[in-house]
Amino acid sequence: MTGARLILGKDVSDSIYSELAIRIEALRGRGTVPGLAVVLVGNDPASEVYVRMKGRKCEELGMHSVTTVLPEDTTQEKLLEKVGELNGDSSVHGFLIQLPLPSHIDEKTVINAIDPRKDVDCFHPLNVGKMLIGEPEFLPATPAGVQQMLIRSGIETEGKHVVVVGRSNIVGKPIAAMMMQKGDGADSTVTVAHSRTEDLPSVTRQADILIVAMGRPNFITADMVKEGAVVIDVGTNRIDDPNSPKGQRLVGDVDFESVRNKASAVSPVPGGVGPMTICMLMANTVAAAERAAVSR
Ligand code: GUN
Repeated sequence: MTGARLILGKDVSDSIYSELAIRIEALRGRGTVPGLAVVLVGNDPASEVYVRMKGRKCEELGMHSVTTVLPEDTTQEKLLEKVGELNGDSSVHGFLIQLPLPSHIDEKTVINAIDPRKDVDCFHPLNVGKMLIGEPEFLPATPAGVQQMLIRSGIETEGKHVVVVGRSNIVGKPIAAMMMQKGDGADSTVTVAHSRTEDLPSVTRQADILIVAMGRPNFITADMVKEGAVVIDVGTNRIDDPNSPKGQRLVGDVDFESVRNKASAVSPVPGGVGPMTICMLMANTVAAAERAAVSR
C-alpha cells in the first residue's frame, strides 16, 4: 500500500532555521543580537517544557534569551510591571507570557499591555486586527507554521477549499483568516467548522485541505476525508497508554492510521505541526529585531 505523503514539521522547520541563521548572522554583524524573553508564572509542567525548549532553541541559533519564572501567587500588578520592563528593554525584541496564567490573573489585561511591536505570539488585539486586514505585523506561530508546511511541501492553496475544524483564538480563527488572504499559501475558499456544526462529516468531506484543531483525540476518521485531500493535524492530545513508558502517549485529532490510506498528504502527530510553532516564534523574533535595527 502506498499511503499518503507525510508532511513533517522537522524537515520544514530545518529549512526555515537555515534561512534564519543567515539573517541572525547578518544582524549580529550589524551589532544586533535578536532577543526573545519568555515569562512563565507558576510551575505547570507542560509550560515548563515549552519554555525550556524556547530558551534552548534561542541559544542554538545564537540569539539572546531571557527566561523569567515568577511564583504561582504573583499578582497581576507585578506581572504587568514585568511586561512594562520588557517593553522598555532594548535587548529584547520579542517576548511572550506563557499561557495559561493562574486564574487570579486576567489574560486579556496582560496581553493588552504588551508592546505590539514585541508581541511575537501575535496575541495582541491590534496585531490580530492587522493580520485580519492583510497587513500583518506578525503572524501567530502555529497557524504560520501550518501555512509554511503547505507552501514548502508544494501544496497548491489558490482556489482550493480549505476546511478548518476548530475556532480557537490561537489556531482555528487565525488560520482561517490567513488562508482567505491574498497571496502565497493562501487565496483559498475557507469554511470554518466546529463542535456545533451540523453533519460535520459532510463538511469535512468537501475539503481539498483539511486543517484540524479541535482537541479531540483521533476524531477525524477516513470516512470524513475526501479521497486525495491534504490533512494537517494541529491536535495535541495526551491519552492513557499502559504500553508506553510514561503511561501516556501523544495523539492528534486525526485518526492517522485510517486517514493515511485516503489522503494524498498528511501531517502526523507527533512529528507534524509540533516543531513549527517554536520555529515561527523564532522567525517572528528575528523579524522584530530586523525592524528594530532599521529604526535605530
Ligand atoms: N501556551 C500554549 N501555547 C502557547 C503559545 O503559543 N504562546 C503562549 N504564550 N502560551 C502558550
